[in-house]
Amino acid sequence: MKIGICTGGGDCPGLNAAIKAIVASSIQQGHEVIGIRDSLTGLLESPPRYQTLLWNHVDDILTRGGTILGTDNSGNPYSDPTKRDQRIKTTLENAKLLGLDVLIVIGGEGTQAIAALLSDAGLPVIGVPKTIDNDLPATDKTIGFDSAVDIVRESVERLQSTAESHDRIMILEVMGRDSGYIALHGGLAGGANVILIPEIQFEVSKIAAAIDLRKKRGIHYSVVVVAEGACGKGESPFYMKSADQKEVLGGVGNQLAKTLHKATGMETRVTVLGHVQRGGSPSANDRILATRFGVKAVEEALKQNFGTYLALQGSSIVALSYKGLKMGERKQISLQDDHITSAERIGIHLGR
Ligand code: F6P
Repeated sequence: MKIGICTGGGDCPGLNAAIKAIVASSIQQGHEVIGIRDSLTGLLESPPRYQTLLWNHVDDILTRGGTILGTDNSGNPYSDPTKRDQRIKTTLENAKLLGLDVLIVIGGEGTQAIAALLSDAGLPVIGVPKTIDNDLPATDKTIGFDSAVDIVRESVERLQSTAESHDRIMILEVMGRDSGYIALHGGLAGGANVILIPEIQFEVSKIAAAIDLRKKRGIHYSVVVVAEGACGKGESPFYMKSADQKEVLGGVGNQLAKTLHKATGMETRVTVLGHVQRGGSPSANDRILATRFGVKAVEEALKQNFGTYLALQGSSIVALSYKGLKMGERKQISLQDDHITSAERIGIHLGR
């Protein structure tokens, strides 16, 4: 078989580990692999941009952050209805030109929605879920999430010692878009005192009361983790313009610092963690998860089980059909999730 791979959407740690697993297990079983450059963009151009992937290209990439194939999160090239049909046609023609028997699409929610569209149009596709946000449907974990959580965990620990020395409130704004997985899991692991997630609109007066209670217990500092998509009761999430004029989530940390300072009188500082969460070497768990996803993707490809989306459910990697899944919808934390209960039982304040 000739197996194609592409990585789409924002990068994350573990993409290269998945690429390595796909290439190594394909070559071991006598198959050929090519990598499409820069997400699906490489298949939309004439001539298509790709590279043949041999063992020596992937031998040492398990531990490397980013993606050797490049990626793109600048939007959905198939979203314009006046160009969609032509672009789907070009993609299918290019896949044929390259002799692809299957395309393994490693991507987030936007990329998986495109993969489902191309699958419906007749492209043999297998999807592998990745994103630090962990907001994809049907899967317990996505590639990249564990690494981001670990970076947040370390950052909370580092902020704790300086917060304690100065009797300050330290606010850490983390990524995650409309889902609070990174904030909740990273905050829990690092020992944050307040965690604010998009799923629960916060009330500043209640956070201030919780910080006050800590003072009454003799602890004069607090570390607050706030997800970029979190907002106060009745308010909307904060957006700002990036230098390239893209609307991006951000700013809630600084706003919260002002209101919390006013409510508590305490010195308050803000750290915006940003793309540090997306960079660097993957965690051990992400390396293993990416390897398992990669191997399973090849297994399903060889069975010709196309139109398939892989998911981690419990301890197993399962192959689901794109049909019946709502690709493009972002998963949020259920308020019944026991991470929420556990956090509150140990006195972590969730802003409500
Ligand atoms: O989806 C991953 C993510 O890192 C989000 O957590 C964040 O909001 C967004 O991408 C940032 O996008 P960009 O890299 O375009 O700034």
